[in-house]
This record gives sequence, C-alpha cells and structure tokens, in this order.
Amino acid sequence: MHPVLEDRRYLIPFRATLLSQIFTDVLVIGGGVAGYRAALSAAQHSEVIVAVKGGIKHSSTYWAQGGIAAAVDAGDSFDEHVRDTLVAGADLCDETVVRKTVEAGPACIDELIRWGMTFDISRNGDEGGAANAHMALGREGGHSCARILHADGDATGRVLAQTLDAQVRASDRIRVFEQCFVLDLVTLDGAPTRCVGAITHHPKYGLQVICARAVVLASGGCGQLYRESTNPSSATGDGLAMAYRAGAELADMAFMQFHPTTLYVAGAARSLITEAVRGEGAHLIDKNGYRFMPDYHEMAELAPRDIVARAILAQMAQTNTTHVYLDCRHLGSEQFAQRFPHIHDLLTKFEIDPGATPIPVHPSAHYMIGGVRTDLAGRTNITGLYACGEASCTGLHGANRLASNSLLEGLVFGRIVGDACREMMANGPTPPARVVSDIRPSDRLELDLDDVRSSLRSVMWRQVGIQRDGRRLTEVAESIDFWARYTLDKIFDDRAGWEVQNMLLVGALVTRAALWRAESRGTHFRMDAPEPDDAFAVHDLWQRGRDEPTTVVSIAGQGGAVTHAI
Ligand code: SIN
Repeated sequence: MHPVLEDRRYLIPFRATLLSQIFTDVLVIGGGVAGYRAALSAAQHSEVIVAVKGGIKHSSTYWAQGGIAAAVDAGDSFDEHVRDTLVAGADLCDETVVRKTVEAGPACIDELIRWGMTFDISRNGDEGGAANAHMALGREGGHSCARILHADGDATGRVLAQTLDAQVRASDRIRVFEQCFVLDLVTLDGAPTRCVGAITHHPKYGLQVICARAVVLASGGCGQLYRESTNPSSATGDGLAMAYRAGAELADMAFMQFHPTTLYVAGAARSLITEAVRGEGAHLIDKNGYRFMPDYHEMAELAPRDIVARAILAQMAQTNTTHVYLDCRHLGSEQFAQRFPHIHDLLTKFEIDPGATPIPVHPSAHYMIGGVRTDLAGRTNITGLYACGEASCTGLHGANRLASNSLLEGLVFGRIVGDACREMMANGPTPPARVVSDIRPSDRLELDLDDVRSSLRSVMWRQVGIQRDGRRLTEVAESIDFWARYTLDKIFDDRAGWEVQNMLLVGALVTRAALWRAESRGTHFRMDAPEPDDAFAVHDLWQRGRDEPTTVVSIAGQGGAVTHAI
C-alpha cells in the first residue's frame, strides 16, 4: 500500500479534551439489524448509544427484500442448512460458526414474532398460527429447499427494521443518535490496543467524542465502491476504513458478492429484483428469448449467485447487450403483485407489467463478505472493539454468502456481541478520552471530490468486479495509490470528503486482496487463474503497517495461523 494510505491514524486533527465528550457504557455504530440487535442485548446490562449515519430507512437491512434463512420447516434440518452454507462458501466457511448461526435461527424467528413481527404465512396456513407451522417459505439460489421467511411479500428488511426499531425506542437504556457520522475509533496505544470510543460529527452538534467502555462496529458494507450497486448511498465502507486505521485485522476483502438481478432501466436506481423471484420459477432469458442458465449449471436459475452473475455476463457478451431479462410471465400480473408488491409498484412506475413483459436485469455489487475479523463472541484484535453484521468477518460466509443468511447472521451475532460487551463493564466508569491527533494541513489545491469518487467507482466496477485479472488489478492498485496521494493528504470538514477518503482506503484493500488471491473461489473470479488453488484455501488478514497479508485457516480462531508467501 502507498504510505499515504497507511500513515493517517485519524482523518482529522483534534484534541479530545477540547471537544464535547459524551459518556456511555456501550457505543454501537450502525442502526441495521446487527447494530440494533446488539444494542438490545447490551441494554440488558448497560447504557447504550447507537450512532446511525442516516436514519433506519438508509440501512441495507431496511432495503433487504428476500428474507431470513432459517431451518424452521418440518422437512428441513440444521444439517441441510449447514451443508448448503458450506457448499456456497467454497471451502472457506468456519463450520463451527456456521452451525452456531444455523442452530440459533428458529429462536431468532420466535423472538421476532414475540416482538410483533408478522411473517407471511402460506395460503393454506391459519392466520396467527403457531410460529413455524404455516410459514410461507421462499427459495433462493444455493438452498436445497424452500427456507426463506419473508414479510410483507418483498419488504422483509423494512418490517424487520421497524420491529427492531420499536424495541430499541421502547428501551430507556438506549439512545439513538441519527445523522451521526462516525469518523474514527478512538484508541489508546498498548499491547493490545484499547478502544475507548469514537469521534463523531453531527450537522447540528459538530464534532464530539463518545466515550465508551465497549464499542460495537455494525456499520455495514461498502457496495458504493462500485458504480453498479444494490446498496444504499450510506454504504461507503466507513466502518471498515476506521477499523483499519485503528489497527484492526480485516479479513477476506476480495470477496465482494455480486447480485445477479438488479433492475436495468436507464434512470432507475439499481433496485434489487430479489432472488426469490427466481425461487418462484422465473427464468433468465437473453435478448433472443433464449433461456440460458441450464447451459451453465444443473441448478439453472437457482445456482449459487456467483455462477448466475458470471453466466449473465457471458450471455451478455455472446449476444452483445448490456442486460438480460427475468421472465416472470408464468406468474401473471396478479400473482406477481401479491407475492412481490413493492417490486410490482416499482415496475409499474416504469410501465413494465411483469405478467406481460420480461424485466431487464443486470448484476450489481451487493454484499461485502470480508470485514473486521472476529472470534466466536464478536471480539476483534482490539480490546473493547467488537464487530457484527456486514462490517464483520465471522467465517460464516466463507468465499460466497448463501442467500438470506446475512439477516440471520445479524440477529445471531448482534445478540452474542451485545452480551459479550458485558465483560468490559468490570473496569470502572468510562474515563474521558485524552487523545490528540496532530495532522499538518496540506497546502494543495481544492479537489473535485465527485470526480475522484466516480473514477474510483467506475474502475472498481470494470476491473475489480465480477471478473478480474492480475495485470489489470495491478494497474487499478496503482491508480488508487495515485488518487490517494492527493486526496488522503487533505483535511476535510464534511462527510463527502471523509467518505471519499474511506472509499479510497477500502477500495485499495479490496484490490490488493483480489490481486493477492491468485485463484478463483466463490465470488472472486480471476480470468488469469480460473480454478481454486488449495494453497489459497486460507483467510487473508490485512492490518495497518503490514505490507503483505498474513493468513489463517480459521477466522474465529480454531486452528493455527499459517504464513503464506505470495
Ligand atoms: C435477495 O433478495 O435476492 C437478496 C437476499 C440476500 O442478499 O441475502
């Protein structure tokens, strides 16, 4: 990495003692499923502040359509769910983590039902019946059976976010700070480093330090690194960047998952068309009306999503087009509207009737599988810093996340992490932060930040996307270093600048990790090394101050660390 990507410990200069300081026991960064679930557990033993970059509507959780994977059906089993997760993960999942997550699934669903969440029931079921007996279960790619619980058709994320939000707002031990941008984790040097809070910016209150005995990073992913993305605009990788600057280990950063089907209409946001549509029997066809997926995989449209995404690219190249089509005509308009009411509404705005016309679709960046490495309790290598949800790498997803396992992971590990924070409460009251950050302002000219941002997003999509190549990745790494030289030496005073600085750092890490991984596995496909290579059946860990990654056989800490030469 270029030194400018490594040198800066904090984004801005500050003296913590001169800023207003707020004290709490637990600071949770992020208001998606993992952050809110962690806050609810932590509130059982402590006072909690949740810092949310926007509001709940801006989280990836709120946007999730598909649902929550859980083995609740009598014909399903934990073993089957574990097996499907391991197969999708391409030999890189931690089986202990997978089993722990899968086995906690049904209890998470019961808890949500107790909190008032209404899941869709099958037409034959009784309204309000027993928790699991009549759930309507959807099927998505890589699942060997229908296993996805959903709510309000295709609005599971919204219903889930609202359910958790109601619980959070009802707790008198949790305060939610909305529009609160977290710039950096505040740490004390030592062995190990100790996290004591975070520096934040609020449009009304300016810079503040939130001092906490435990900090939970649940800040989501970084899909906005890519020009084509299903993610909300808030997903700029801030949490990953601040964790890296603080010295946390980031794992498996090459594994960005691409979703095969987002709406491809000029002028429309790249809205997800949930995989559950294919689960209801929709076919992918090319511009000639040819159904191509059976040519690529025996599971056809329900193959794991990396395979579907690459097949779409191949078919687009063969037919010289920018997109393919999702053919739902067999469902008819009425049934489509009933099962996918919000997608139906969106399509109607563009005068597309899915009962009569195939939907134009195209792949987009969707989910960062890598993230801050944690153990089985969500602890990181920094004392007092925990991570969960998309910002974390627990080892659950391996090299490719099984569809709808992420809301489940957020629920399971959110609870675990919120509980685990209790161990930091024995050390007496939260002390004030006395950290000083000295940075000399650069005297260079003003930058066109939008141009840097869009150049990065564009090159990431073209060269660090679904198909990668070693030579091109080297060129991208050099371009990012070049942009970083005159962007990361600046001091910005608003979130647009901080976001671009974070995106450059995280983009550099994704590119380096993709370059290092000279093989193809899961979501990571290298045209110059198209097969998996056993030498790379390990997790790569990136940490500030180290030029090369170290590798381990297990994220959560089982098995030994191994060194691995590139
Ligand atoms: C989808 O609804 O297709 C996305 C579900 C997921 O990413 O887990």
